[in-house]
Formats: sequence, structure tokens, C-alpha cells
Amino acid sequence: MSSNPSIEELFVARLNEIVGERRARAIHQTMRGPKDQAYWVNPLIAGEVGLAGEPVVGAQDCYMLPASRRSEITESLAATRGVVYPINPSSMVAVKSLAPQMGEEVLDLAAAPGGKTLLMAAAMNNSGRIAAVEPIKSRFHRMRANLKRCGVTNVEFYLADGRAVGRKVAQRFGRVLLDAPCSSEARIDWNEEGTFKHWKTRKIKETSRKQRSLIRSAFAALQPGGLLVYCTCAYAPEENECVVDHLLRCEPSAEVLDVVVDRDETLTGLTHWHGRALDPRLEKALRILPDRLWDGFFLCLLTRVA
Ligand SMILES: C[S@@+](CC[C@H](N)C(=O)[O-])C[C@H]1O[C@@H](n2cnc3c(N)ncnc32)[C@H](O)[C@@H]1O
Repeated sequence: MSSNPSIEELFVARLNEIVGERRARAIHQTMRGPKDQAYWVNPLIAGEVGLAGEPVVGAQDCYMLPASRRSEITESLAATRGVVYPINPSSMVAVKSLAPQMGEEVLDLAAAPGGKTLLMAAAMNNSGRIAAVEPIKSRFHRMRANLKRCGVTNVEFYLADGRAVGRKVAQRFGRVLLDAPCSSEARIDWNEEGTFKHWKTRKIKETSRKQRSLIRSAFAALQPGGLLVYCTCAYAPEENECVVDHLLRCEPSAEVLDVVVDRDETLTGLTHWHGRALDPRLEKALRILPDRLWDGFFLCLLTRVA
């Protein structure tokens, strides 16, 4: 590394520590190259899809087009009408792992713009109730409009800080999704400065503090025997395994469950970071490795034992 390293050099050096040099090189390459676009067909809105696309293996009702044809999806009438939703297949793994059922009460603790809320509402066929929490006004209103356009009717919206929610609704929800606010490292495109200019290790530490409060709040809201998914689109262990490790240290009734995913390009969660041993159960967490289509993603499935 040079004496005055660039953000990109610092990032890659950290990535080497997290996933090893060979994988870090492959991930770095995906962050420099074009990204294909996928869409999911929304069963809550009937209508003509009218789009081409290859089925995405490992993501149901999801189809993809190459990067050069991205606007065919994002600017389509089907997307405007909510018949399809532009999505990354990694996001779908989070909802598949949580597996919300018809008639259940679900908490979505960091919900905007509502992509995963939509997937959950569709899995529940608009039955039961989803409480969707988002503290940023502009994002909150965008989520409401988005979900209305996509035919979602089983959501109650809360403009609130997720950190304060758990103690108000202690052990109430059978399923809780925490798709945490994060450094969004997996969304960095090294050709677009706007996607990385704010990246800093100091900021990762700040974000990690917020995530620790959020996961404790999410867990507080979880019923015994219920399921909690914690996920991020960050690579930083401080935002992933270390956050779950914090929960496991504070909450003896928290247990980690296996995640099943129909994709080979994955890693298990880290059980050590920067010389510190983490809870060995973190081996059950999942890291999805990125490629031209799939985003990098971290996911951990938890329950509250009775
Ligand atoms: C990764 S995004 C969620 C994406 C969403 N689940 C989806 O699939 O469309 C994280 C969200 O958490 C929100 N957020 C930030 N701080 C929060 C807090 N204290 N409590 C709850 N949500 C928060 C952000 O504004 C952002 O909308």
C-alpha cells in the first residue's frame, strides 16, 4: 500500500483481512465492473410484465437482464405500476430465511424504502400485520407510496427510531426483520465517487454502535420461539458478526440458527476478528459473496429460546 493510501486501497486492505486475498481480489473486481439488474414479479398486482429476462437460480419469481439493459426494467411500465419490483436477489434470501407466514404479526424495524416489506406482504398474501418502522421522514413517505403502489394492504407504518421500539412491544412479534442501516459497502461502485466518498473506518464504528442498540431492540420485541433475521449489505465484521456477538453476550436466551440458501458462493460467519474471539455460534451466519448480479450480503438467523 502507498504511504498515502486512497479510500480504495484502504478498503481492499480491510477486505483482505475479512475474506482473504483471493476472494478480496474477486470482490474488488465485481465492484469495478458492470452490475446486472434483476426484477421480481409481484403477485399482489395483476398486470402485463412485458419484460424479457433469464430466471435467477436461487431466487423465486426473479429474472435478470444484463447491465446494458438495466433501464428496460427500471423505466418499464410494469415497474411504474408495481407489477414488477427491481430487486437484488441477495435481499430475497433475508425474507426467505425469515419465512413470514399467513396471519402472523411481523416487525420490520428498519423498513424504507420497503423492498423487503413488500416481499413479506406478498409471502403473507396481505394477511396478518406488518409493523414497518422508519425514522427518516422523506424515506418513510417514499416507503408508504412505494408499498401502496405495489398493492400492499397489511402494513402499519411508524415514523419512529427503531432503538426505542423493542421495550414498548416486548416479546410481541413472531418474526422480526432487522435490515440494519449500514455502511452499504456492498453497493460501492469504484467508478462512482458518490458511492464511496464517505466511507471511513471511524464511521463503521459509529454505525456499529447504532446497530448494537437496534439488534437489542429487535430481540426485545421477539416472542419465545420466534425468528429474527439480522442482515446488512456491509462487509465490515464490526457491522455484522460483532453486532450479533454483542447480542449473544447480553442475551442468554438468544440462539443462532442455520440459514439455508440455494447458492454456492457463500462463506460462514467469522468467529474471530482483529485478534478477538467471537461467539463460535457465529459460524452459522452467512456471507453471500457478490458477482455481476448478486450483492455482497451478511445474514444471521436467530431465535429466542423459551
Ligand atoms: C438497509 S435500509 C433498509 C432497506 C429496506 N429493508 C428494504 O429492503 O427496502 C436501512 C433503513 O434503516 C433506516 N434507519 C436508520 N436509522 C434507524 C433507526 N434508528 N431505527 C430504524 N431505522 C433506521 C434508514 O433510514 C434506512 O431506511
